[in-house]
Amino acid sequence: MSTRAATAADLDAIMDLERTSFPTDAWSAAMMREELASPHGFYVVVEEAGRLVGYAGLRAVRGARDADVQTITISAAARGRGRGRALLTTLLDEAVARGVHDVFLEVRADNPVAQALYVSEGFAEVGRRPRYYQPDDVDAIVMQLDLRGWAARRAEVSGGAAPGVAASDAPSASATPSPTGKGWC
Ligand SMILES: CC(C)(COP(=O)(O)OP(=O)(O)OC[C@H]1O[C@@H](n2cnc3c(N)ncnc32)[C@H](O)[C@@H]1OP(=O)(O)O)[C@@H](O)C(=O)NCCC(=O)NCCS
Repeated sequence: MSTRAATAADLDAIMDLERTSFPTDAWSAAMMREELASPHGFYVVVEEAGRLVGYAGLRAVRGARDADVQTITISAAARGRGRGRALLTTLLDEAVARGVHDVFLEVRADNPVAQALYVSEGFAEVGRRPRYYQPDDVDAIVMQLDLRGWAARRAEVSGGAAPGVAASDAPSASATPSPTGKGWC
């Protein structure tokens, strides 16, 4: 298994997985191409035996306080073996490196697996968008992660210093929830 930055050459493989993973609300190829090319984006892919089995993307405008997990997907055959968490962690590490304070995402209310992953990393529900996912008519749950708290917890577990976060700087309690979740996950 290897993880690397996504390139424009990955577009077709990403779109194959996108359409399989999100049959009713997949992004268009044009949208995905734009995301991959955006200077504010950070997209990674995971491969097994030279085959793309997952991808994930973050939107973090340089200098901005907030970032969004845009998408994360592992192919059905490769799920349940830690790859989703590894991709999410890679996105969060990049957000730390960009000086982000809070990470937001949206997740379908009928997707308990993804919700469990996010909650286990410290994301908390801060709002709902009724009937956000169409045509399925499913609500979006908006989640927020206090990134400096996440980095501090991680450093504690690994026994080292949190990258980019001074211990005295890291908040001990969760940040004030923001009503502006914007991710498209
Ligand atoms: C959500 C997704 C990316 C998780 O990837 P994954 O590689 O299967 O997940 P991991 O093996 O890293 O597991 C991470 C956590 O997810 C949760 N999880 C994974 N599989 C689960 C299952 N079958 N049931 C319940 N929770 C599950 C658990 O909290 C797990 O942590 P644990 O192993 O410590 O219990 C993957 O299921 C997926 O691609 N789903 C379809 C696309 C999608 O829904 N994307 C998210 C859009 S917001």
